[in-house]
Amino acid sequence: MTESLRERLETLRREVERELDAASEPAGVEEIRVRTLGKKGALTGEAKAIGALPAADRPAAGELVNQVKDALEAAIAAREAELAEGALGRRLAVEALDVTLPGRRRGQGTRHPLSIVTEDLLDVFRRMGFRVATGPEVETLWHNFEALNIPAGHPAREEMDTIYVEGVDLLLRTHTSPVQIRVMEGHDPPIRIVCPGRVFRSDTPDASHSPYFHQIEGLWVDEGISLAHLKWALVEFVHQFFGSDVDVRFRPSYFPFTEPSGELDMECLICHGEGCRACKGSGWLELLGCGMVHPAVLEAVGYDSERFTGFAWGMGVERVAMLRYGVLDIRMFFENDLNFLRQFEGR
Ligand code: DAH
Repeated sequence: MTESLRERLETLRREVERELDAASEPAGVEEIRVRTLGKKGALTGEAKAIGALPAADRPAAGELVNQVKDALEAAIAAREAELAEGALGRRLAVEALDVTLPGRRRGQGTRHPLSIVTEDLLDVFRRMGFRVATGPEVETLWHNFEALNIPAGHPAREEMDTIYVEGVDLLLRTHTSPVQIRVMEGHDPPIRIVCPGRVFRSDTPDASHSPYFHQIEGLWVDEGISLAHLKWALVEFVHQFFGSDVDVRFRPSYFPFTEPSGELDMECLICHGEGCRACKGSGWLELLGCGMVHPAVLEAVGYDSERFTGFAWGMGVERVAMLRYGVLDIRMFFENDLNFLRQFEGR
């Protein structure tokens, strides 16, 4: 009886050991353990059967079963540890981190091209003694039109497609000229300011129009200011900003708030006066509007127009930025396309 038990146990042990060798996953080992040593396992069955043996045989049989049980438990634990180690090794290999690889670069914000150009333009005028002044984007009818000698019914009012905010008294400023009025209302001459800001017109967007864009306004009022000061300041500006060899010309023009009024053209930066598509064959690019402040404007803010005179100008920032960077469509500035904006990194 004990002999045949010994043989069965021996067979079971060898079989289990073979299976353990073949097992490739910890889960497989667990399955073998349950099948052999679990409550309904093969070896557990042998242990239970001992109770049915003659009393004299029981101690030897019990010892045999326990020996095999110990051996199998040890074999199972060993195989389990072996496989776990292998699995860990594979996981480590797969998840390994190459600490010598360069890190991912953090995206850094860059200045918007319009901010770059605005700052550069202001810098030139700051060096010439101008102070920066700003005003609100929502303006009164008085500051945007009336005080600037543009009364109701004046064609200039119809030309600027105005966006009204509330009734007809509050509007989105159509130009930066109302900042002139606000500064003069609050200060006596001498006044020497440059006013950057956003302006609004209900234009349909296309390559050269946007319902909002940016201007820089300039104003110099004092006793004895003449057209010669205007000419010096603006030519000096063009030479400092675009280059000292750039040709400049003044053309007579009309603005309600200046008399006389003019427009300043500069030599086309692309063809240098030869005539090309950018300058429509003329060799010149329109840069800004300017003139001697109209006496009616000085009177509107309470200045004595007999004693004080001044000059003013206004220009579009987008236009300057388009010329400087060769941008052909004004909408590029407002689409926030990162591929466009990243080109100005570090400028
Ligand atoms: N405000 C004018 C515009 O938006 C530009 C301008 C022209 C401003 C002549 C001036 C000036 O101060 O003197 O078209």
